Amino acid sequence: MVQASNRVKKTLDRILSRAGLGSRTEARKWIGEGRVAVNGRRAGNPDAWFDPQRDRVTFDGKPLRAAKKIHLLLYKPKGYLTTYKDPQGRPTIYELLKEVPEWVFPAGRLDQDTSGLLLVTNDTAFGDHVTDPESHVPKTYLVKASALLSEEQLQRLRDGIELSDGPARPAEVRRVRDSARFTFFEITITEGRNRQVRRMVEALGAKVLKLVRTRIGGIEIGDLEIGKTRLLTPQEVRALKSARAPVSR
Ligand code: URA
Repeated sequence: MVQASNRVKKTLDRILSRAGLGSRTEARKWIGEGRVAVNGRRAGNPDAWFDPQRDRVTFDGKPLRAAKKIHLLLYKPKGYLTTYKDPQGRPTIYELLKEVPEWVFPAGRLDQDTSGLLLVTNDTAFGDHVTDPESHVPKTYLVKASALLSEEQLQRLRDGIELSDGPARPAEVRRVRDSARFTFFEITITEGRNRQVRRMVEALGAKVLKLVRTRIGGIEIGDLEIGKTRLLTPQEVRALKSARAPVSR
């Protein structure tokens, strides 16, 4: 019961941020300043759960407007964080999104050292679908491993390798090429656990030297330039909304 209702309800800071007003940190500040009301009463707790469809949230007395939905593909460069602000002052993807007129959030994460495709949107339902572990939207990465990997090692990834937080779902793996010391391979996973590809490779006794996400669902990186964005087409949005890998176990 709690789970079902929590899928609809969101914390107040998230409702404000998803309405396109600003970051969750900013939303918490506004709530603290008494600028936010829910169902006519001033709200004081940014962590309280509300249903954005039913509860009437106002900011400075004005109802939240429905922001125009925007769906972008960003080619995240290595070195950028997917968070809004970094206490250590490292670059974040928001520096690459200055021209975007709406407040947007990344649908999923990429590690600081990973480059490649990141979906950025203000469409909560879209973001929730792409990041929901139950959706199993396939994501493909190009990996440079720190060692030459045998066919048996790659097969362990295909079979579903054991990780510290439970076995990974079976992955699609294709050897791209071997150099004198390194194996380059492509892997498609249907989960989005923390540092998953890196941990899968570490479970083989190697390390990831380079990681690039090249595909999400049916969307390929194509000729998008690094650090740049492009709008998804309505067809791509529709396809991603229904993208779902078969549940293999
Ligand atoms: N797997 C990782 O290890 N890192 C990422 O950024 C994405 C997938």
